[in-house]
Amino acid sequence: MTTSTSLDKRLILVDKAITTYGNRKDALLEILHIAHNVYGYLDKKILLHISEKLNIPPSQVYGVATFYNYFKLKKPGSHAITFCLGTACYVKGAEEILSALEKEFNIRRGETSADGKISVFATRCVGACAMAPNVIVDDEMIGKATKEQVLEKVRKLLEGERSET
Ligand code: FES
Repeated sequence: MTTSTSLDKRLILVDKAITTYGNRKDALLEILHIAHNVYGYLDKKILLHISEKLNIPPSQVYGVATFYNYFKLKKPGSHAITFCLGTACYVKGAEEILSALEKEFNIRRGETSADGKISVFATRCVGACAMAPNVIVDDEMIGKATKEQVLEKVRKLLEGERSET
């Protein structure tokens, strides 16, 4: 996972958290929470990465992740848009951006659009408060995000999908 996703800033945040916990096996649940907050889901690739980093068998990591209903185990839509609604991001306007996106694309947080193209997640602090408000669009973390910037980004993503079909 390290080569093909080396530009994935979300993975950098997860790795930072793992380092903060000193790669401790007993921090597995905390790390899963952080990874879930950052990605909005925990798929096989992420779980395997955590398994390698913490040196815990994949079956055990998977077992813990599936035990808790809270964790989503796959990326539901083609594009995942995750809003940090931790205190710093909330205060800096993340909720306002999220509401505008819900309105424009007729989608609610926690849901996937009817065409399966976008899923919207709200999460807690992703550990980059200095860049608040933070919005994560697929692999890209947008710090100091503005409503215009995020809406435009999502419009372009959807346009790109249309021109590919
Ligand atoms: S509150 Fe959003 S990054 Fe900390």
